Amino acid sequence: MRKDTFSYKVTSTVASVWDNIKRVFSSQADPEAEKKEDTDPANQAETAKEEEEKVEDGMWEETFKSHSDGKPNGPSAISLDFSLPGVEHVYGIPEHADTLRLKTTESISALQPGCVPVRAFQHSWKGTSLNLSPSFWDCLSQQYETPQTDVRWISESGIIDVFIMLGPTPKDIFSQYASLTGTQSFPPLSALAYHQCRWNYNDQEDVQTVDAGFDEHDIPYDFIWLDIEHTDGKRYFTWDPHKFATPKEMLQGLVDKKRKMVAIVDPHIKVDSNYKIHNEIRSRGYYIKNKDGGDYEGWCWPGSAGYPDFTRADMRAWWASMFAYDQYEGSMENLYTWNDMNEPSVFNGPEVTMHKDAMHGAWEHRDVHNLYGFYVQMATAEGLIQRSGGVERPFVLTRAFFAGSQRYGAVWTGDNAAEWDHLKISIPMCLSLGLVGISFCGADVGGFFKSPSTELLVRWYQTGAYQPFFRAHAHLDTPRREPWLFGPENTALIREVVRQRYTLLPYWYQQFYHAHQTGQPVMRPLWVEYPQDPATFALDDEFLIDLLVHPVTEEGARGVTAYLPGKDEVWFDVHTFQKHNGAQNLYIPVTMSSIPVFQRGGSIIPRKLRVRRSSTCMEHDPYTLYVALNPQRTAEGELYIDDGHTFNYEKKEFIHRSLSFAKNILSSANLAPEAQFSTRSWIERIVILGASKPSKVTLKTAGGQESQLEFEFDASMSVLTLRKPGMNAGVDWTVTLQ
Ligand code: NOJ
Repeated sequence: MRKDTFSYKVTSTVASVWDNIKRVFSSQADPEAEKKEDTDPANQAETAKEEEEKVEDGMWEETFKSHSDGKPNGPSAISLDFSLPGVEHVYGIPEHADTLRLKTTESISALQPGCVPVRAFQHSWKGTSLNLSPSFWDCLSQQYETPQTDVRWISESGIIDVFIMLGPTPKDIFSQYASLTGTQSFPPLSALAYHQCRWNYNDQEDVQTVDAGFDEHDIPYDFIWLDIEHTDGKRYFTWDPHKFATPKEMLQGLVDKKRKMVAIVDPHIKVDSNYKIHNEIRSRGYYIKNKDGGDYEGWCWPGSAGYPDFTRADMRAWWASMFAYDQYEGSMENLYTWNDMNEPSVFNGPEVTMHKDAMHGAWEHRDVHNLYGFYVQMATAEGLIQRSGGVERPFVLTRAFFAGSQRYGAVWTGDNAAEWDHLKISIPMCLSLGLVGISFCGADVGGFFKSPSTELLVRWYQTGAYQPFFRAHAHLDTPRREPWLFGPENTALIREVVRQRYTLLPYWYQQFYHAHQTGQPVMRPLWVEYPQDPATFALDDEFLIDLLVHPVTEEGARGVTAYLPGKDEVWFDVHTFQKHNGAQNLYIPVTMSSIPVFQRGGSIIPRKLRVRRSSTCMEHDPYTLYVALNPQRTAEGELYIDDGHTFNYEKKEFIHRSLSFAKNILSSANLAPEAQFSTRSWIERIVILGASKPSKVTLKTAGGQESQLEFEFDASMSVLTLRKPGMNAGVDWTVTLQ
């Protein structure tokens, strides 16, 4: 450890966390207070007594409405201070709805809660502190000779484990962190496509009509979602007997179109002796207990509900077994799962969650709170894997999460509103999640509460289409907002951006494979790639998915200013192919038709341009390669292909190729000679940006056969298009420009 850049001290192991928080607030209110010393011994004794009483206050018992938190294991709060000399920028601790770069708590006069207590300090190293109980942190920025950031972690109970990752580069830090908590699970390809959700699609007919609406308006989608109203009285794992009387018929209708469904399964279980799930959990003793030893009951969607103790391995194994096709009646292989309210939500609990003195065996809820949602998703994902005999990759969305949740599926940012600020904040929120390894994240497109203006809805689709988890969702009380309800012009705008997403699915998939292998985030702040460039440190309105994306998040915007990084780089506008130099703030006029997206010179991106009903329908379609040349006239990229949905890639059933352009030769070489997979897909077009006009283009394939390729050259944009080269996407080849 470099002593000059880091120091820490344990500030308290006994006082209640609330006392700590109160202390921090009061010293914020009067920073001079601690400095004033009273020298009168009588007053000092009095002050000491008052202090003692203050510390005692809340240590052994606290009340919430009529509930008293008995703290069965006594007071156990802990906090830890760090001083970080030389550090000005700190990032991390999702989930917070604010800027990417963490503000000092002086400036926002509040302590920040966060459920993945991980911070990245500047760009040279990352400190991680893990604690399972609800945690807060406090951050002060000091100006001594060099800048310094002081941070304090405060947790309600437990121990604080501190992991320090020294990097030195951001990429090193991500892989070091992944070695501790795991990498992003590799989702089925279809999960990276578009998801259509609302609370609620009312019945099977509604599902069928919405499904047909997508075909009628030529908009692709992969998943339609059912919220809580699809169940029989909020009894999860069941279907409303009238509205969803024949779920298998409904699911088969989707199978026939190569589409899928997600149904919600929340972890609060209706207390009802006629409900199989409740009876089993109760008889097996799997419910969380209250402090008197009875089953804990709280109030949630079904009314009175019990909460299974997901911290128990036997409970999780049982829960997983409930996803078997013969247990979860009406389920089929194209039905996946959404875990909501798994903080857990308790409507009548303190801060709408579980009473802290509820018991998980010998552990109080306060000790394991942050782990609850993590385990719910883990057990659910395990259930989906098991139901397929270990063959199929699961897809599970969760609202609550913790360090490591990336291993089990996707996360969304919870209940936002149809407001421009909420669209804006979706960018730093997803970036913060990516920094702690949770790559598969997104925000409700359109905003959950309230009704978006048409402009906001279109802008949200345009942003969401370039974020990892792309799902539209809306509250029960909002008017319907399927993409074709806003007039033909807006339908066309939404269609266009959803189709853009589909063309880029091979690339998204490859990015997720990479994240799965290496722990690198898919959606990244610019400073991750340009750590030496201070202009990138506080950017909140643009991001990299290798492509650089600058969403339009202002109402009525006529243009945006995007920062293009890299003094030796060039960037190509993906819509116009116009080339721009790096290391500049570029003003880009915008219309409603699209948002600015750039491809870095030096990269190669595979797309599939024949967009169909769903990603699965596009499985065997051919690829178009976009080769963007850098000033040295080179470029590199990859192509990853597998079956898109099973774990067979772990048995080396995939194709992984490196694509490179140098010295006027574009070549495809095998990156994984040990892997075996074959594809019917072929290369139907190659577009080279920043090219000069060749006189002849020659394709050479593995057998040594040579052929001349037809090409077109657009001199005004320096774009060379090679038509129908026709080689299989999985074999060696070279294309030479002469
Ligand atoms: C809260 C979730 O955040 C929201 O997305 C969902 O629609 C409602 N619960 C109802 O299930």
